[in-house]
Formats: sequence, C-alpha cells, structure tokens
Amino acid sequence: MRSASHSPIGVFDSGVGGLTVLKSLLSHLPHESTLYLGDTARVPYGTKSGEVVTRYSLKNASFLMERGIKLLVVACNTASAVALPALAAALPIPVLGVIAPGAAAALRQSRGGQVGVIGTPGTIRSGAYQRELEAAAGPGGVRVKARACPLFVPLAEEGWLAGDVPRLVAREYLADFVQEGVDTLVLGCTHYPLLKDIIAEVVGPGVALVDSAEATVHVVARLLAERGLLAPAGGTPTHHAFVTDVPERFVEVGARFLGRPIASAEQVDLSF
Ligand code: DGL
Repeated sequence: MRSASHSPIGVFDSGVGGLTVLKSLLSHLPHESTLYLGDTARVPYGTKSGEVVTRYSLKNASFLMERGIKLLVVACNTASAVALPALAAALPIPVLGVIAPGAAAALRQSRGGQVGVIGTPGTIRSGAYQRELEAAAGPGGVRVKARACPLFVPLAEEGWLAGDVPRLVAREYLADFVQEGVDTLVLGCTHYPLLKDIIAEVVGPGVALVDSAEATVHVVARLLAERGLLAPAGGTPTHHAFVTDVPERFVEVGARFLGRPIASAEQVDLSF
C-alpha cells in the first residue's frame, strides 16, 4: 500500500482566489501533488454569513476528503476566519487555514506593534485576525486596525491592477492606516496579493506587506515534515482542479492568479 505521503494536498477556495495559495505551494513544495476545488457556483464567500460559509466549507472539505487528501489547506480567508473550528472537528486529517500563519508573519515583521488587516467584510466582521494577533502578540502587545476592502476583489478579477482606478480605491481604503502609523499590513484576502504593487505605492515603503498565502505555505511545509508526510523527491506530482460552475472563466481568470496557464478544470456538482 502507498503511504499517505504520496497523497495529494487538498486546497479549497470560494473560486479563483485560492490559486494565489496554490501558486506559493507549487513553488515551495514542488514534489507535492494537489487537488484544488474552487466553489465558483457559490462565490463570493466574503459577503455571506458565517453559518452559510461554514456549510459550504464542510461540503468542499468532504468532497476533497473522498479523493484521499493527506492535508487540507483552507485557502479562502473568509472560510478560514469562520469555518476552521468546524472543519478541524469534522476531518481526521490536519486542517490549516491562512489566518494564524498570516498573523504570526505580521507579528514577526512588525517593528512597532501597529498592525493593519484588510480583508472581505466576512473576514473582518469575524474578528479572526484581530483575535489571533492579540493572542499571539505576547507581552509587548499589538494595536490592530482592520478594514474590509470589498472592491479589491472585482478589481483583481478584472485584472485592473494598476492606474487611476485601483489607486483611487486603494487611497480611499488605506488612508487611515497611513495616518494612524500602521507599520505592517496583512493582505487578508486571496485576491489582494495581485494588488500588492498599488497597495505598496499607496501605503509607502515604511509599511511591510504580509502575504498570508506565502506565510501559510511555510507552515504547510513544516507540518508535513514533522508528520513524515512530505512527498518524496523524484516522483511525478499531479495537479487537478475542480470547479462547481462551468470552467471557462476559472481557467481564463485563474491563470493570472496562478501565474501560469491552467490546462483544464473539471466541473463537479456539490449541490445540497
Ligand atoms: N477567497 C475570498 C477570501 O479570501 C475572497 C473572495 C470571496 O469573497 O469569495 O476571503
């Protein structure tokens, strides 16, 4: 029997956004096979209630579990923020979200303990980043300022990443962070790494930007190593993407998020 180390890592998101997490995963862990599920029929999660996002997340997780994954990465910040306890309780494998790794990376980078968090309305409303940052901050403490930036999601999907429109939106959302002296800003949504340049331009060089996707992949690598679950070098990793709506838009828009073409995605029915 093949050992669990040969099994794929499962990754799910509400749609294309989680491909930023998959991109990091493929570059840091090139021997791993992956199964990606984008719940494109039910996207966005960021404006939905925690109860509904948790229900969708459990469904996504059980779909991937049935396909023999060894570890689940919840790439979607909103799902990580609201559904992680339910997922961890329901699954017999390790489950990792993006919130704790992103918060830990922010605390490592922050010089003055003034941390900003941006994300979807659902992520910010949940208070998950704020709680995680405060719990992990230690005796020095941390001051957290959080704000939902919903327009960044359609801008990233439209590929509107530079110029006056995203600059104006970024200024509107981020002016208070600059004014209040935030020294570190967590990009707490799968889509925001695509807008990193314009965000950096608006907040200036004094603010460190934390990509939760990058931070999470380092934790995935450590966890797989600790549990003896790293895929052996020399194998031929396989990658498969599933979507819950027709695949055309996912394949087209997703290539920008993944940084390489997506050959195909299989449409599956996860209806309730
Ligand atoms: N993937 C979501 C997140 O990271 C953004 C898109 C959505 O709202 O579904 O929170």
